[in-house]
Amino acid sequence: MVNFLNSKLIQNKSELKEFLGKLNHQQIALVPTMGALHAGHLSLVEKAKTLADQTVVSIYVNPSQFGENEDLDSYPRTLENDLAKLSDLGVSAVYAPGNEQVYPEGFQTYVYNNSLSNDLCGASRPGHFQGVCTIVLKLINLMQPKWVVFGKKDYQQYKIIEQMVRDLDLDTGIVGADLVRDSHGLALSSRNKNLNEDQKKLALSLYQTLQLGKQIVQQGERDPSRVVDILKKKLLEVDGITLDYLEMRQADDLSASSPDSVVDSILLGAIKVGSTRLIDNMPLS
Ligand code: PAJ
Repeated sequence: MVNFLNSKLIQNKSELKEFLGKLNHQQIALVPTMGALHAGHLSLVEKAKTLADQTVVSIYVNPSQFGENEDLDSYPRTLENDLAKLSDLGVSAVYAPGNEQVYPEGFQTYVYNNSLSNDLCGASRPGHFQGVCTIVLKLINLMQPKWVVFGKKDYQQYKIIEQMVRDLDLDTGIVGADLVRDSHGLALSSRNKNLNEDQKKLALSLYQTLQLGKQIVQQGERDPSRVVDILKKKLLEVDGITLDYLEMRQADDLSASSPDSVVDSILLGAIKVGSTRLIDNMPLS
């Protein structure tokens, strides 16, 4: 276990056990991340600090949630910078395990969510949410946190984890934190580091389209498919991006929206700019 300023860097399970053993029943709020931390992640840490005595951040680029042709190798890894940011915030510990700790040879048990996992992002990223559920369940089992904080930027992930916790009777509370954007409106993402200035402008088209959707609903449109058709058409006209999906769903469980449920719905979208996949969403309430 290494100390960095006022925090502890823990890199294996025995050190984690030692740390947990000294907590004397103090409660943990956990913030799971894959690192390359930005203000969105740090807002989750701030939220976690209000929930429990001990704030633990995990940093682990989880291979099992990346598909074969995805960006596991090029995913930004900036541990030293991340630790500096976290020690400024005063977290109790950072758990940054190696792959051999998480997936030792012979590992073969995964957990996934049967229905939600194959929808929206799951449709174009088969296996992604199985990897997410597995790592999050492992972290919850290891640390028994009172709270786990997720960003609503990854809204489907947040809902899938809520469902997993309910289905598997886990004794932990899932807390959703608001999506953080940059000054132009672009949703902060570790993957934004891969975008040049022109690509950042193109990426904004998703946010602008979602905003337009919200305006259309505020002006009284109640037909989900009419709203979605207008927005898709707009995105398909933007040169330089590829539309993966744009959908309206009920915000509580991501089921299909109906005219009666539009105001309790959320717009969700995913695009590719170059080889970078970006997601965003906008609640309509
Ligand atoms: P990562 O993409 O690093 O995100 C970690 C957490 O930060 C997630 O809960 C995500 O929703 C939140 N987050 C990211 N950008 C945000 C933003 N702009 N505003 C608010 N919150 C934001 O999500 C993952 O890692 C992984 O799938 C993980 C849950 C750690 C499992 O490996």
